[in-house]
Amino acid sequence: MAVLNVNIDHVATVRQARRTDEPDPVWAAAECELAGANGITVHLRQDRRHINDRDVWTLNETVASKLNLEMSMAEPIVKIAEQVGPDQVTLVPENREELTTEGGLDCVKYKTRLLEVVKRMHKKGILVSAFITPEQEQIAASAETGCDAIELHTGAYANAGTDRAVKRKIAELEAGRDFAMEKGLIVHAGHGLTYRNIAPVARIEGLCEFNIGHSIVSRAVLVGIREATRLMIELIDKYSSR
Ligand code: PXP
Repeated sequence: MAVLNVNIDHVATVRQARRTDEPDPVWAAAECELAGANGITVHLRQDRRHINDRDVWTLNETVASKLNLEMSMAEPIVKIAEQVGPDQVTLVPENREELTTEGGLDCVKYKTRLLEVVKRMHKKGILVSAFITPEQEQIAASAETGCDAIELHTGAYANAGTDRAVKRKIAELEAGRDFAMEKGLIVHAGHGLTYRNIAPVARIEGLCEFNIGHSIVSRAVLVGIREATRLMIELIDKYSSR
């Protein structure tokens, strides 16, 4: 059965729209946990456009479930992760002008750096997941560098415009899952998942964790974040295999 980590970056986006102190992502995290979330995910970007250092330090103290820190492999951010010591880091690529994370981490190109970051995280007892597209060479590089898990990028699935394209993207995710499991990796998934498109992905056996943000925070504006989290967990439970 797959579980849900709620990505609360966009609670901080609303706060940063006025550079004030509300809404506080720390409060949002507690509400998500009360609704049964498996964990809380935040992305500490180098440009600090939403989540800031205080959020990460405070969430690390207050989150009772799992804190998953999404981050690039830039040295200042890696140092913060070492100091804070979240339960898990998910390594992502990061470009300055992007609206959200685009593409997966290139674990082949950055293999040497990845190897070093994985070692440093493991030294602190932090689980490492790499956010990648479901390509064999990326999965193999994640396994070879010692990653514990991969997060399969579901963005291409979310953007698929036709039934045929949806089926093709689901098949690619399933093939990625098979290869990753052969290599001994835990398999997560995320990006672009919504209340409307979660069912086919939740049905994929063997996916352990979903990281979902924008859709839940968008729903929360209307129904509250505890209810929005509860509704997404209900859908994941309904469609994922036991
Ligand atoms: N997983 C990763 C690695 C991401 O970078 C993001 C976006 O921050 C998400 C999941 C969540 O994506 P969305 O906000 O589209 O649900």
